[in-house]
Amino acid sequence: MELKERIDKRFKQDFGEEGTFYASAGRINLIGEHTDYNGGFVFPGAIDKVIMAEIKPNGTDKVRVVSLDLDDTAEFGLNETDAPKASWARYIFGVCREVLKRGGVVKGFDAVFAGNVPLGAGLSSSAALESCFAFAINDMFNENNIEKFELARIGQSTEHNYCGVNCGIMDQFASVMGQKGKLMRLDCRSMEYEYFPFNPEGYKLVLVDSVVKHELADSPYNKRRQSCERVAKRLGIETLRDATMEMLDAIRTDITAEDYFRAKFVIEEKDRVLAVCDALVAGDYETVGEKMYETHHGLSKDYEVSCEELDYLNDIAKECGVTGSRIMGGGFGGCTINLVKDELYDKFVQTAMSKFAEKYGHAPKVYPVVISDGAHKEA
Ligand code: GLA
Repeated sequence: MELKERIDKRFKQDFGEEGTFYASAGRINLIGEHTDYNGGFVFPGAIDKVIMAEIKPNGTDKVRVVSLDLDDTAEFGLNETDAPKASWARYIFGVCREVLKRGGVVKGFDAVFAGNVPLGAGLSSSAALESCFAFAINDMFNENNIEKFELARIGQSTEHNYCGVNCGIMDQFASVMGQKGKLMRLDCRSMEYEYFPFNPEGYKLVLVDSVVKHELADSPYNKRRQSCERVAKRLGIETLRDATMEMLDAIRTDITAEDYFRAKFVIEEKDRVLAVCDALVAGDYETVGEKMYETHHGLSKDYEVSCEELDYLNDIAKECGVTGSRIMGGGFGGCTINLVKDELYDKFVQTAMSKFAEKYGHAPKVYPVVISDGAHKEA
């Protein structure tokens, strides 16, 4: 059964009348990892995997929500400040609180949601959930007066204040602002962004999911951020966006080796995003691919957010002659993103499946990337 039908069936069962459908997307990121909270550049796009919700105001001050995929329900009052126990419900609770905090309107509603964004795969299912509800609340109760970018910030603050992840803005930005067929380059210092049509002729983008679950809360993710902030402070600058390798080398003996390598990665990654943008404009996919491999190397060796399985997938890509491959997203599991020539695609996918299965006893999952629209109301 289609996602929408499944949701609607349960909505009718639990809440009777028909509601309105909203959806928001997971995301990919071509390049620019762990740069967002350092004031650098990112290059994400929304994908054709979504969290969808059917929602209807219920005339009370209570929110009642069903998570269809987890077969769980939650209820909370809009005047309550204690977050619900279930982690999935905290995302929705957080979004409501953050809208209220900003002076927005939230009234009681009933909702059923479900999705096809794989969980824990680094495709930002949590950002899709936050963006879906933020968009819906803006449409249902605020006449769409909250700016779209602010909806992304509402999702980000939810992660910070209710979910324990001190994330940057990339995932929520991509989920809310994504447009079909376009990647976006976001400058996370000025928050200016630009859409880049992305249709690489002769190549495909494909994700290979190691199925190693990544969990960002209480994870080394926050520690990576702290390392970067320590170095920036030591350099007397606001973020590593303003750092150079010369500046970093000048303080090398004053900081830990760990902090040094974390900052080195961020400084180098910043330049790689810009190089990739130029290469894309010039249609030079070989350079795009080279930079992707460099990012993988940095994420694995300097930033240390890879894992054995992801390094192995990267090696397989290299051996198969794939143009570019790297771990994508926060790390600690999840997917690699691969830029593959059309004629190599089948061979690469088959080799990755069989070699990985041979070594780890289970096959990876493969998702072709389709760049799609971000948060929206369903027709
Ligand atoms: C996670 C975070 C993002 C970003 C990426 C790494 O997805 O939510 O803000 O930091 O990791 O690029």
